[in-house]
Amino acid sequence: MSLKTSVEYFQTLVTSFHPVVVIDTVEEERVQGLISAACNDMQMAVFEWSVAQGLMRSPDSPDHRWQNEYAPPGAKRGQALPKTAEPLDMLRHIQDINFKAIYWLKDFAPHLTDPVVARQFREVTAQFSHHRSTLVISGSGPALPPEIAHDAVYLDLKLPDPEELYTTVSEVVRALKGRVNVELTPEDIRALVKALQGMTLSQTRKVVSYAALQDGKLNADDVPRVLERKARVIREEGLLDYFPPETNLAELGGFEGLKRWLGYAKVGFMPQARQYNLPAPKGILIVGIQGCGKSLAAKTIARQWQLPLLKLDAGRLYDKYVGESDKNFRRAVTLAETMAPCILWIDEIEKSMGQTSGEADGGLSRRLFGSFLTWLQEKSQEIFVVATANDLSAIPPELLRKGRFDEIFFVDLPEVDERRDILQIHLGRRQQGTTAFNLDELVLATDGFSGAEIEQAVITAHYRALYENRPPDTALLLGEIKRTVPLSVSRREDIQRLRTLARERFVAAR
Ligand SMILES: Nc1ncnc2c1ncn2[C@@H]1O[C@H](COP(=O)(O)OP(=O)(O)OP(=O)(O)O)[C@@H](O)[C@H]1O
Ligand SMILES: [Mg+2]
Repeated sequence: MSLKTSVEYFQTLVTSFHPVVVIDTVEEERVQGLISAACNDMQMAVFEWSVAQGLMRSPDSPDHRWQNEYAPPGAKRGQALPKTAEPLDMLRHIQDINFKAIYWLKDFAPHLTDPVVARQFREVTAQFSHHRSTLVISGSGPALPPEIAHDAVYLDLKLPDPEELYTTVSEVVRALKGRVNVELTPEDIRALVKALQGMTLSQTRKVVSYAALQDGKLNADDVPRVLERKARVIREEGLLDYFPPETNLAELGGFEGLKRWLGYAKVGFMPQARQYNLPAPKGILIVGIQGCGKSLAAKTIARQWQLPLLKLDAGRLYDKYVGESDKNFRRAVTLAETMAPCILWIDEIEKSMGQTSGEADGGLSRRLFGSFLTWLQEKSQEIFVVATANDLSAIPPELLRKGRFDEIFFVDLPEVDERRDILQIHLGRRQQGTTAFNLDELVLATDGFSGAEIEQAVITAHYRALYENRPPDTALLLGEIKRTVPLSVSRREDIQRLRTLARERFVAAR
């Protein structure tokens, strides 16, 4: 889907007598691009209005008559028609214009809460349904009163496709000619365009110009820079956290079962798998006891496969408007798709899509869950989903059914060998050679401990050593371990219940 698709759709709406088109976006440059492309084609006049400027002929208006009598001679920009800043005046003015045109009303929806404005609006639209003029309302989450929503069509502005991005890159290159050296092979151009996917055309222009002007060169080195910039854009949107592969140092002890499976699954991403028409792996669900490394496992997969990791913070999907959470979810996965191949990590999935999800009411989370299942079924092959969950009873059973995920793993408390691994990782991270410790003794003492509890004991022992100004040793660590009451003791029943449920149904991660 591309911007071109949106333009064609918009044209169809206009020619089929749709009086009101609503575009939910704050990126007015994109709306402008859409309207000007559509109207140039259809040879229709364009007006724009904002409460600050009033109504004026748009500079993009194709008949070049925008310099109306109110503009001073030689003006670069049209001037507003007098007394059109007030919504009611503007609507009355439009009602008197007797040729077909597009009227772009910026941030107009809030004005429709005034009953007089709303009524005048309806009278204008009633007239439009006969002569093919269209009102376009843009703004963030524009909510319309029901009597107006009835006549309105929402238009989803598509992001530019690779061809459009390519054209924009070429334009930038042309504009910078003489100032930068362009050293791009066709291969580099493809990589650059892929890196730009998910950005708007204006973001593309900015990012590419910046990358080129920074060192006077546009070459393969700019691809990671563009990706970095895109990661920033993604973070700023606030729906996804981004962990680039270069900075991911996750180290997971144990999890032999999971690691083995990942080794197999990787084959599914190879071109040979495509030759046999094998589908790429969709994703996994990791269920397990708190602090036993589920989140760490998600990071480790990204590290092992050297892929970018995107974490979906499902709590942030919820918005005060019903329907927004769906939209936010679609936005998040669209962004993830532009980063593909990548890993999409949905941490604590039961909290956002479960049966009893926090702040949101049941209906909302169910709908979101529905969107998620559909997406999981239809998603691009290059996104691998890793979902994690603690509370099995809150997970909708549909999610556990075969075929949703490639595999569901259960993470139990670490056993002897794994505790040894975990101790080694965390002692190693504190610059300690493990020879100074009696690992056998420590492994025995940490029976029933989660990875997080082992890590915590290592950390506290090191604090104590620093405080007492002595090197950390086995005795110090054993002291900390003895002082800890692990969850497996304090919440014995809960853990036992989870174990019995999960052990018989899911594959052991270790
Ligand atoms: N197998 C392991 N290897 C190395 N470190 C581990 C392991 N398991 C847990 N840890 C340590 O414990 C910390 C907590 O683990 P993590 O956050 O992955 O647990 P979790 O299962 O996601 O817990 P929660 O249910 O609370 O989200 C990790 O940051 C890591 O330092
Ligand atoms: Mg976690």
